[in-house]
Formats: sequence, structure tokens, C-alpha cells
Amino acid sequence: MALLEVREVTKKFGELVANDRVSFTVETGTIVGLIGPNGAGKTTLFNCITGLYPADGGAIHFDGREITALKPYEIARRGAVRTFQVVRPLKEMTVFDNVLVGAFLKTGDRRAAAARAEECLSICNLTSFRDRPAGGLPIGGKKRLEMARALATRPKLLMLDEVMAGMTSTEINASVEVILRLRDSGITLMIVEHVMEGIMPIADKVVVLDGGIKIAEDAPGNIVNDERVIEAYLGPKYSQRFKARREGADLG
Ligand SMILES: Nc1ncnc2c1ncn2[C@@H]1O[C@H](COP(=O)(O)OP(=O)(O)O)[C@@H](O)[C@H]1O
Ligand SMILES: [Mg+2]
Repeated sequence: MALLEVREVTKKFGELVANDRVSFTVETGTIVGLIGPNGAGKTTLFNCITGLYPADGGAIHFDGREITALKPYEIARRGAVRTFQVVRPLKEMTVFDNVLVGAFLKTGDRRAAAARAEECLSICNLTSFRDRPAGGLPIGGKKRLEMARALATRPKLLMLDEVMAGMTSTEINASVEVILRLRDSGITLMIVEHVMEGIMPIADKVVVLDGGIKIAEDAPGNIVNDERVIEAYLGPKYSQRFKARREGADLG
């Protein structure tokens, strides 16, 4: 069953159509990648799904119910939770307290919230940073803190907006590991990402936006061969590299 169904969603900013009748589904327990050039409308779509912006048209169903006109906190309570492209931790607070704030969305009990926060720090490899002020974390750590805060709310759907941007390849690998751990724990993920080596190997399905329009929705192996996607976003070099790596892996 689809956990999330986006049907004909349109979002306009004046004359600009940032999302133009976008439709797709996210199946329970899967990882869906959302890719496309800058300005394609990826973040806007996240904003519509999570209720930050009201959609101008279309309908969004989550976990069996329509959420189109709900407020962000209502949608978060139902279990669709996002990170932000621009990281915004509560800088003066410790890493632990930042995650605790997320945990309190689902429980008023301090001990339960603290236990959940510790668990999320551990899942996101942040335990060693626990008592540091969040503002002092390196970029990779800040991004994982965003993930831990979202995770603390016990989401059904976790939506990540460019959490691998600016990371070293070691940090990317660490994030991929965390994401797979989340998927295996039963969380469904929708991931906006420019770092193709981060998203392509782990996505069950990839949705491609260009100029607000969905131009493709398919398995990663088909996406990299899609002429329209290559032209709009990936470029011929990426497609060749991806194929070479796959063939190498198959031979190995
Ligand atoms: N709050 C806003 N007001 C006006 N225009 C916006 C707003 N948010 C996004 N846009 C515009 O909508 C388009 C899509 O932006 P965005 O969703 O951020 O793209 P992406 O995340 O794919 O890079 C861009 O042209 C952007 O300038
Ligand atoms: Mg964006």
C-alpha cells in the first residue's frame, strides 16, 4: 500500500509554477529519491507535503487519510516529518537537547523522551557529540543532527532535503549507512539529493522533476538510461559511469 500519494499537486508563486500537477506514490518501507536541477521544485514539493505551503491544486494522502489542507504540526503528528535544506539547529543548546525537543513531540514524559533522544543519537552516530553545543558541529554532524531530531518524533515517513550536500565521501558513506538502518527499522524515506552516489544505490525508485514537472518515475537503473533525465539533469558522463560501476559490480 502507498504510504504517501501525491496527486496532481500544483504550487504557484505568482506566475511561476513551481510544481505543475505532480503525481507519484511512495510505498511503505521503501526509499524514494527526488532529484532534478536547482529550481526544479523539489523543496517546494516537500513544503507542500508537510503543510508549510498550501498547495494550489491537487491532493495529498498520507497513511490512508487526506492531509492536503492540514497544518504542519498536524502532519508531523501523523508521522510525515522533514529536515530542512538549510540546517537550523538550536545553536546554543547541546546536541542532546536539540534531539530531546524532537522527542517531546510524541511524549510528554521526560524519561521516555530522554531515552528516545539517546537512541536517536546512537542511530545517527552522534553520541560522542552529545554534550557539545549544536552550533559547533561540523557540517556532516549538523546534517545528522537534523536527521536525529526528525527521527526522535518517531516518523512513519522521513523526508530528507539534501542531507549529503557538502559532505566528504566518508561522511556520505556514514549517512547512507544511517539511512539504510532507518529503512530497516521500518521508516519510509523520501530523499532530495544531488549527491548521486549517495542516493542512486539505495533508492527503490527515483522521481525526477524539471521546471516543476515530473519527467520520470522509475527504478534507478532505468533513470540513468532515461534520455530526458540525462539531458535535463544527469548528463551523459554520469550515465556512463553508473553503467561501468554496475558492470564492474556484476563481474565482481
Ligand atoms: N517562497 C517562495 N517564493 C517565491 N518563489 C519561490 C519560493 N520558494 C521557491 N520558489 C521558486 O520556486 C522554484 C522552485 O524552487 P525549489 O522548490 O526551491 O527548487 P529545488 O529545491 O528543486 O532547487 C524556484 O524557481 C524558486 O525560486
Ligand atoms: Mg531545494
